[in-house]
Amino acid sequence: MQKNDIKQKLKAKNIATLMEKIYKFPTPNNVSIKIEDIINIDSLYITKDFKNELNTLLLLLKPWRKGPFSFFGSFIESEWDSSIKYNIIKNHLDIKNKIVADIGCNNGYYMFRMLSLSPKKIVGFDPSAFCKMQFDFINHFIKSNIEFELLGLEDLILYDSKFDFIICLGVLYHRTNPIDSLKILKKALNKNGKILIDCLIIESNEEIALSPLRYAKMKNVYFIPSIKTLKNWLTRAGFKNITIITTKKTDFNEQRKTPWINGESLEHFLDKNNPNKTIEGYPSPIRIYIKGEI
Ligand SMILES: C[S@@+](CC[C@H](N)C(=O)[O-])C[C@H]1O[C@@H](n2cnc3c(N)ncnc32)[C@H](O)[C@@H]1O
Repeated sequence: MQKNDIKQKLKAKNIATLMEKIYKFPTPNNVSIKIEDIINIDSLYITKDFKNELNTLLLLLKPWRKGPFSFFGSFIESEWDSSIKYNIIKNHLDIKNKIVADIGCNNGYYMFRMLSLSPKKIVGFDPSAFCKMQFDFINHFIKSNIEFELLGLEDLILYDSKFDFIICLGVLYHRTNPIDSLKILKKALNKNGKILIDCLIIESNEEIALSPLRYAKMKNVYFIPSIKTLKNWLTRAGFKNITIITTKKTDFNEQRKTPWINGESLEHFLDKNNPNKTIEGYPSPIRIYIKGEI
């Protein structure tokens, strides 16, 4: 993506107006930050006016897909309880003093969680200007030195620096060419670099992938591999020491309709009479968490 494209994206009317609101948003005195399953930002010094302004802005920043967050007592129950994913991966993040990238970082929830593991640097990549806005809003208070690049996985080819550890969660099945995408991730790694991804899978002992036109109402899911196929993809892309962390079925604790999204959620994507099937009749979502090294 060209720099001009990025500027253009941020100039879009709804984005530019919101960005300005975020940059100008007041910061109360003595902000306290607690980064746990709920990322909690608070202060004893908030006024009624501040709270009203805050609640208006939080609504303008809807939909909140990843979280949860608490901003000065206003709880954002995001569509996804991302703490569940983070708690699966956290013991596999050997990132102390490492340069880390989160590809498809959304609003940065995992990046903020990773701060406590003392990485040297964290850079998030997500082409969604809306995600960057949420990130900027959260970081307006946290004031971390996490960098956010309004770029996609494919832009890593031209990116100047490399990483020691890349996480790429919930992205691979959205790619039209998953092997090439994994190759791009591999090229973005330094020597001895590691990758941790999660991907939707289908349960099968064969080396196959589902390639649906629509899956759980998503039209941008291109390939859902079996575990063997995913391992083959990783091997073809040049990864070694491929280790499965776990697999997990998506349940209503992890993804559900909340007041903080506008549209539908998992309960609308599954067959009402059989929650083991998607509305299209495919097996309902299961994810694998898997690591590889170069
Ligand atoms: C299913 S969400 C996963 C978010 C988060 N990583 C997680 O696992 O909770 C996919 C994310 O990828 C982002 N995305 C879309 N196109 C992308 C691209 N070309 N490269 C990287 N990320 C992309 C979306 O904006 C979205 O934040």
